[in-house]
Amino acid sequence: MMIVPQSFIQSLTLAVSLLSSTVWASTFVVHEKRDSAPSGFIHLGSAPDDKMLNMRINLAMGNQVGLEAALEQASSPTSPTFREWLTKEQVESFAAPTTETGEAVTKWLASFNITSIPATPAGDWIKFTIPVKVANQLLNTEYSLFNHTQSGQTSVRTLQYSIPSDLQPHVKAVHPTTSFNGPLRGRAPITAVSATNFTPSLGERATVDCNATITPACLQTLYGIPTQMVSSSTKSKIGVAGYTPQNADSEDLSTFLKEFRPDLPSTLNFITELYDGATNVQDGTQAGLEANLDTQYTVGLVNGIPTVYEDIGYTVQDGPDDGYLDSINYLISQTSPPLVFSTSYGFDEESALSLSLTVAYCNAIMQLASRGVSVTFASGDGGVASSPDLQCEGTPFPPTFPTCPYATLVGATQNVPEIGAGLTAGGTVSAITSLSKLGPPFLKIEADAVNAYIAKIGDTYAGLYNASGRAYPDVSAQGGTVEIIINGHVDYVGGTSCSSPIFSSVIALLNDELLSAGKSPLGFLNPWIYANPQAFNDITIGNNPGCGTEGFSAYEGWDPVTGMGSPNYAAMRTAAGL
Ligand SMILES: *[C@@H]1O[C@H](CO)[C@@H](O)[C@H](O)[C@H]1NC(C)=O
Ligand SMILES: *[C@@H]1O[C@H](CO)[C@@H](O)[C@H](O)[C@H]1NC(C)=O
Ligand SMILES: *[C@@H]1O[C@H](CO)[C@@H](O)[C@H](O)[C@H]1NC(C)=O
Ligand SMILES: *[C@@H]1O[C@H](CO)[C@@H](O)[C@H](O)[C@H]1NC(C)=O
Repeated sequence: MMIVPQSFIQSLTLAVSLLSSTVWASTFVVHEKRDSAPSGFIHLGSAPDDKMLNMRINLAMGNQVGLEAALEQASSPTSPTFREWLTKEQVESFAAPTTETGEAVTKWLASFNITSIPATPAGDWIKFTIPVKVANQLLNTEYSLFNHTQSGQTSVRTLQYSIPSDLQPHVKAVHPTTSFNGPLRGRAPITAVSATNFTPSLGERATVDCNATITPACLQTLYGIPTQMVSSSTKSKIGVAGYTPQNADSEDLSTFLKEFRPDLPSTLNFITELYDGATNVQDGTQAGLEANLDTQYTVGLVNGIPTVYEDIGYTVQDGPDDGYLDSINYLISQTSPPLVFSTSYGFDEESALSLSLTVAYCNAIMQLASRGVSVTFASGDGGVASSPDLQCEGTPFPPTFPTCPYATLVGATQNVPEIGAGLTAGGTVSAITSLSKLGPPFLKIEADAVNAYIAKIGDTYAGLYNASGRAYPDVSAQGGTVEIIINGHVDYVGGTSCSSPIFSSVIALLNDELLSAGKSPLGFLNPWIYANPQAFNDITIGNNPGCGTEGFSAYEGWDPVTGMGSPNYAAMRTAAGL
């Protein structure tokens, strides 16, 4: 762990005392601070005054309580208005900051000659670009350069910043400030075995043993997933996130379809939406395992439902934290976003992100969920740790990103019959407890399922997790040894990276049936999932070792290895009202 030099802390204190009375009438109060940068980041020195920063500020929503209540009514199976999702305009009217908030923030920024522009249609995020010198004054701080040693990338961050006290009720999060994140990694660390000689050549593959390797046909049989093409007029749509430098290869997808879904047209392709400067290079040698996995196990399972590859770029200056937010806010700004959005990238939430940014992301996910979008994430591959390579022996189990209660976290199973996927089944109980407080009251049903588990394990791991936190995963799907095509060859990948797109494809197929029947899409899933345990294959074998422990064990009912279980399409169909 890299300790930030003491002199740096002292210079921050100095900055606070010098500036506190010079630029704004009310007193500065520390809005957020951290003791040191996370391990893996080295402090290089002060950021140059003229370095430009792309700032974003999250303003208090005008009526967050109202939005939470509306989402509760729309997503609770017992509600009379169940699945009456909000329109874009309705969400925006809840999310828009009050006039008072808008005016207070505008006035504060204007005193620094800063003009902001809205970064979201509701205006709950605003953005502007200023030099470090001005940012230092605005936030009464001293920005520094930090080197992320693994990637060699430099970012501009601070360990502490302040805002005037009368702005505190209006300003929720300021970015970039105290959040540190290295380049995003796909969740699929995966045992890529293309170099070994037991990789079968295409067309010569033996009959697949689904206990050993998973293909679309295995999943169709195991979960009862339909195989027929959907109508060309389907209103269902699925999105998968991809982050630079991953590329999703169309030619590999075509090879995949010929090999594993010969019943589908091999011309089926994903739609690419590029933002934040992303490029999706089409050159087999640059195809990414994660990106190919995510596109092949959506297009290859959803039988013609449009699949959008949301390709998010990476700017060294701003760091990838922006990409996560942009991916959600981009969908919020769309009139017809994909109705399920799967992300198989992640990191350690608690060490990387400030609490305010964590909560702000979660509120963005809440807005998207309110529109009837199922937001799914791979729950991590480190067992009880958020990532496999995290040093966490003897410390509380570190939570994955995001532990947001409005997202559905998908853990991994392996083998047939399925068991929890050992090291690759992310699952723990979040330590960030304010998120569970954020969780709307209807999640009591989720708390009941989790408490029943905790009652079974007694004081095992007491102190290593917070029993009041947001527990995950919610559900699970195969993440054992999954066959993909990369650069023209079969390869094998594993982990929750597989599970999230597979589970999400099932949701997209159910949405197709629901919409064809004139019904609403599944939308925010968690209240429905916990109310319908019979819709999932309960997995009772397996554990998720990590942080020097054997991890939790799977039991009957919800457990932190496989959640409520894996998809049972026929039972989910019935539970969905079809
Ligand atoms: C804002 O601009 C005015 C006019 O150019 C200038 O006098 C003032 O010093 C500026 N204020 C700050 C905080 O930069
Ligand atoms: C960042 O750290 C890496 C690894 O230690 C090093 O190779 C690189 O030179 C550093 N970059 C800067 C700008 O110090
Ligand atoms: C499935 O494979 C595992 C090893 O990966 C083995 O232990 C188990 O016996 C196999 N199950 C069946 C039903 O063949
Ligand atoms: C656990 O969560 C509860 C409820 O959010 C909170 O009051 C408590 O401080 C947390 N405990 C720890 C050790 O974080």
